[in-house]
Amino acid sequence: GNDDRVARISSAIRVIQDFPKPVIMFQDITTLLLDPKAFKDTIELFVERYKDRDINVVAGIEARGFIFGPPIALAIGAKFVPMRKPKKLPGKVITQEYSLEYGTDKMEMHVGAVQEGERALVVDDLIATGGTLCAAIRLLERVGVHVVECACVIELPELKGRDQLGDKPFFVLVSCW
Ligand code: PRP
Repeated sequence: GNDDRVARISSAIRVIQDFPKPVIMFQDITTLLLDPKAFKDTIELFVERYKDRDINVVAGIEARGFIFGPPIALAIGAKFVPMRKPKKLPGKVITQEYSLEYGTDKMEMHVGAVQEGERALVVDDLIATGGTLCAAIRLLERVGVHVVECACVIELPELKGRDQLGDKPFFVLVSCW
């Protein structure tokens, strides 16, 4: 069942202490990718949830949203749109600035990649503070796209990132307390 699959996924994620700096418990999904059954289950749980929701855009957030987003997009018949760090995309871009703990960052998307009225799923590996997903939602909504839901493999619930998303539906496979 779903619980068995989630348990396998959860145990395939490696936690590395003090990376990239002291006190941080880094949730490493590269070990999940090494377990083909767990990786397949991850994609299938998302595909089962989103296949009949008329989603035509899967927006994946750099970098690890580029690993989980494309197989979901292919399976549900949606296009894949990369949401990138600044100055990476070669064409004309629309930019969204957002706050970090210290300072700000930017996210960019190609103009013309999505059209007004399209229906998007936003995919990333992990939600921490929620700032990254919020920026992706704003970027898509600024061009008239309806964001149906955001989906992550991992949530750090203590950081209350999902509260930042307001009413926007959010789905996660594994919560790490
Ligand atoms: C991580 C993670 C999310 C983001 C979540 O990316 O993959 O994209 O942080 O954080 P937030 O909810 O607090 O906004 P990271 O900053 O490590 O960038 P990278 O994937 O390009 O290495």
